[in-house]
Amino acid sequence: MGKILVTGAAGQIGSELVPALRKKYGYENVIAAGSGRTPLARDIAEAGPVISLDITDYSRLQEALAEHGIDTIYHMSGLLSKSAEDNRRLGFNVNYLGLFNVLEASIANNVGKVIVPSSIAALGPFGMETPRQNTPNDTRQRPRTMYGMAKVNGELWADYYSEHEDQEVNLDVRGVRFPGLLTWKTDPNPAGTTDYANYMIFDAVRKGRYLECPLGADTRLPMMYMPDAIKALINLAEADRKRLEHHGDYNVAAYSFTPDELAGVVRKVGSQFGISDFQMEFKLDPVRQRIADSWADSMDDSAARSEWGWKPDWSLERTVYDMMDNLVKKQEHKI
Ligand code: SER
Repeated sequence: MGKILVTGAAGQIGSELVPALRKKYGYENVIAAGSGRTPLARDIAEAGPVISLDITDYSRLQEALAEHGIDTIYHMSGLLSKSAEDNRRLGFNVNYLGLFNVLEASIANNVGKVIVPSSIAALGPFGMETPRQNTPNDTRQRPRTMYGMAKVNGELWADYYSEHEDQEVNLDVRGVRFPGLLTWKTDPNPAGTTDYANYMIFDAVRKGRYLECPLGADTRLPMMYMPDAIKALINLAEADRKRLEHHGDYNVAAYSFTPDELAGVVRKVGSQFGISDFQMEFKLDPVRQRIADSWADSMDDSAARSEWGWKPDWSLERTVYDMMDNLVKKQEHKI
C-alpha cells in the first residue's frame, strides 16, 4: 500500500483525521504535514511520521511526495472564510495556489487520489432558482466570498482533473461540501464564521456564559459534529468510483440551528454538567454576518446518500453532550 499524506494536520479537521486514518491504515502509513505555524497535537506528533510543509512551496511538496511514496492526499490546509476576506492575498496563496500545487504535484508523482473539502460557502446566492433551505447539490453557484469562490474553483478542478481525457492526468479527486464543523479537540478557530458555535460551547464549559456572539440570534446555518465529518471523508475516499456521479462537490448535512437555538440546547445539556443560568450576549461582527447571510440554511445531501451511502450519526443534542463531556475531562486533565 502507498502512503497517505494529510496536509493541514494541525488544523481542526486534520487533528482528528490523522488519528482516524492511522487507526484504520496503520500508524506508519499516514504522514501528518503541518506548516509549522500551529503546532501539531501531541498525539499526532508522537504517534507516527510528521513533516513540515508549506503548501505554497511546490518543490518541497514534490520532494515530500516522492520521498514518502504517497499515493493518497487528504488536502486539509486552507484559510477559512473570515481570514480569507481579511487577507485576500494569503487566501489566494493558500486556497488556490496550495490546491493547484497539490493537484499538479500529484500528477507528477503518481499520486492516485486527492481528497479535498469544499464548503457550504460554495453555494449561493439564493432566490427563485436556488432555495436557501435544502439547497440542491447541483445548482447555480455564484458565491460572494473569497473563500466560497476558491471552493467553487476547487470543485471545478476536481471535475477537470478527474475527467481529463489525457491518460497521464490520472487523478481521482473527491470532496464534500462541509457545513460548519463542531469540535472539542482543537480550540475554536477565529478565522471561521461558523466557529461561533464552538466558542459558545467552549465558553459555556469554561466560563458558564458566552458574551460575544458575532452573528444575529436568528442566523441559521448548517452544522455537523467532527466525527461525522471524518466519517464522510473516509467513506467518500473508499467509495466505488463507478458509483460516483460527482467528484468534489457532494453536499453533506447533519443539522441546522441559529445562535438562539444552540443557546437553548447548551442551557438544557449544560444543566447536566453543573452549568446553570447560561447567558449569551452579542457582539455583532458585520463581516461574519455578511458571510453567514450569503450561506444556505440547510443542504440537500441526497446525492451523497445514494452514491456512497452517506448518513450522519450525531444529533445536535448528543453532539453538545459529547463536547461538554470531553471539555470537562480536558479541563480536569483526564484526557
Ligand atoms: N466553517 C467554515 C467557515 O466558517 C466554512 O466552511 O469559514
